[in-house]
Amino acid sequence: MNGDGTTAPCSRIQGFYRLPREERLRVLTAFADLTAADLAALDGDAPFHVLDAFVENAVGAFPMPLAIATNFRIDGVDRLVPMVVEESSVVAAASNMARLVRDGGGFRTEVVSDLMIGQVQLTGVRDPEACRAAVLGAREELLALADACQARLVERGGGCRDVEVRLLDASDDDGFWMAVHLLVDVQDAMGANMVNTMCETLAPRIEALTGARVGLRILSNLSDRRVVRASCRVPVSRLSREGMGGAEVRDRIVAAARFAEVDPYRAATHNKGIMNGIDPVAVATGNDWRAIEAGVHAWAARDGRYRSVSRWTVDPGDGALLGHLEVPLQVGTVGGVTRLHPVARLSMRILGVERASDLARIMASVGLSQNLGALRALATEGIQRGHMRMHAKNVALASGASLHEVDQVAGALVAGGEISASRAEALLAELRRRPRPTAAENPLPRAGIA
Ligand code: MEV
Repeated sequence: MNGDGTTAPCSRIQGFYRLPREERLRVLTAFADLTAADLAALDGDAPFHVLDAFVENAVGAFPMPLAIATNFRIDGVDRLVPMVVEESSVVAAASNMARLVRDGGGFRTEVVSDLMIGQVQLTGVRDPEACRAAVLGAREELLALADACQARLVERGGGCRDVEVRLLDASDDDGFWMAVHLLVDVQDAMGANMVNTMCETLAPRIEALTGARVGLRILSNLSDRRVVRASCRVPVSRLSREGMGGAEVRDRIVAAARFAEVDPYRAATHNKGIMNGIDPVAVATGNDWRAIEAGVHAWAARDGRYRSVSRWTVDPGDGALLGHLEVPLQVGTVGGVTRLHPVARLSMRILGVERASDLARIMASVGLSQNLGALRALATEGIQRGHMRMHAKNVALASGASLHEVDQVAGALVAGGEISASRAEALLAELRRRPRPTAAENPLPRAGIA
């Protein structure tokens, strides 16, 4: 039974990290209505012939952990979120913060706009105003031409929606530079191929209309017409930490976020923390995370100065902490690798989304959750304590601990407060000298997350 009294699957799972893998898979299977055959994708990588089709010169695969972030409630729906990431504490932080946000009603999202941009560059423009008028005067013809080369997209309800013309701050001996923008509704695709094809198809006609020379014909990754918002509220009572009241933690978080609003050096790190949430979902679902990164960072600098893409404030009514994130997210749920890669397909099943805009809503929520986790840690105890606690397993593994020893060594590292390679080696040696304790007697605690 869900917390809201319905029988919808509930993502609030206590101690998921403590469960053995089989149990985690059981929970996942029940949540997303999966079969054993669905889960088989998690046992190995995609078949080599599939990988070989993605890129040239493939020789193998690079396995990364696929983990599940729990506790997310987004627009009233519970979600378990697959994340592919190698950085300790990312998944734990996302899950923990989603738990706090859940107590404030969960994440709320909004799709602000949903169009991709294609660019046709023009050089040698003699008269910019005449050029603009020629393109805009042929708007209907250009839209029809663009749609005609993407008939299936049009059938699905998409298509080229508008044409814009921009004068660039550049010229050469032959004249000014301009850019014609095509605004395209790509429906549930990321849309790069469709937009690029439209740009290439329209280029000769635009050249003929304007008398200018066409340069590049390619989408823009500054997808500022495909923007999603996520927001959340955290009751102040949920923010208290050891020795620090909720109101103080809240105020410190707000001040920490302000640092990122006023300083681009801090903003870059702040936004990197947000991408710690967004990128792993992009990878898990087979999306192009380089495009997303390019878009978000360019967006962060859209007014000429690089800024944070989130804001944290205080609700004047009840004093709750309010978070707000607005980012361009160019993602797809059809086409590309998403439907071909078995693990990406499984991730989509777990997420339970069909629409690209719904995937974007989830990604923005995870980004905001991640941002909250980083700010809360940074503004209170500092990032290293939690980070090193999560990193302890890596240190234990690097010291040579076997599968059966790693939890014990990591737990002892955390308990001892010194998480270093030399300490891990000493603990491992000590462990191997000792007779094996039974599980009940095991004196070494496990590293873990709430
Ligand atoms: C580390 O991967 C991310 C953080 O640096 C983000 C931040 O500073 O806000 C902790």
